[in-house]
Amino acid sequence: MVSEGLTIRPIRKDDLPALHEIVNMPEVADVLGPIPPLTYEKFEKWHGRFIEDPKHVALVAEVKKKVIGLVTLSIGEEIHRYDSWLSIYVHKSFWRKGIGTQLMKTVIDVARDIGLKRISLVVYAGNKAAIRMYKKIGFKNEGCSKYGIYTLGKYMDTILMGLLLDEDLAIEE
Ligand SMILES: CC(C)(COP(=O)(O)OP(=O)(O)OC[C@H]1O[C@@H](n2cnc3c(N)ncnc32)[C@H](O)[C@@H]1OP(=O)(O)O)[C@@H](O)C(=O)NCCC(=O)NCCS
Repeated sequence: MVSEGLTIRPIRKDDLPALHEIVNMPEVADVLGPIPPLTYEKFEKWHGRFIEDPKHVALVAEVKKKVIGLVTLSIGEEIHRYDSWLSIYVHKSFWRKGIGTQLMKTVIDVARDIGLKRISLVVYAGNKAAIRMYKKIGFKNEGCSKYGIYTLGKYMDTILMGLLLDEDLAIEE
């Protein structure tokens, strides 16, 4: 169930300290990508473009003025202009309350509104929580990179997932 008083709104610069705290939670950092420790400078460079560059859509989830999650879409260019790449994370204390799903649904609506045709993402093959959420929303598994990532002393497989936003492009099962 979605927490009462949940607001989803565009990211602001003053959200960055709260978001930095979330990405440094071990349970989030381990599945997100950048090699820890993620210093504030490195984080600010990474997230700063979500605020400044119009090729990104970035929405935060807020409850009682506390920022508890982020979803981003990075829109492709040139031949990839109808595609976009998604990233999402939610504060650990708010997991399993429907916040991730609500962020996903909102950003999917935005993607449709701005004329995108698909959303892509890459997820660690072992990230069962995220994969279940993506599948529940309608994302399909589109392939696996064996040992695509090397982090925290081990190789990991990654899965490419995609959501088509245009019924005319729907693939017959
Ligand atoms: C993935 C993540 C964003 C999900 O956020 P959330 O707010 O907990 O998601 P929801 O509450 O909307 O859950 C939606 C569905 O996902 C699945 N799910 C979520 N967490 C799960 C878990 N720990 N185990 C199994 N399934 C899970 C369930 O099917 C759930 O539906 P249900 O609660 O009705 O069964 C959150 O776990 C997170 O921030 N993880 C760390 C960062 C991350 O993995 N990002 C994605 C990288 S590709």
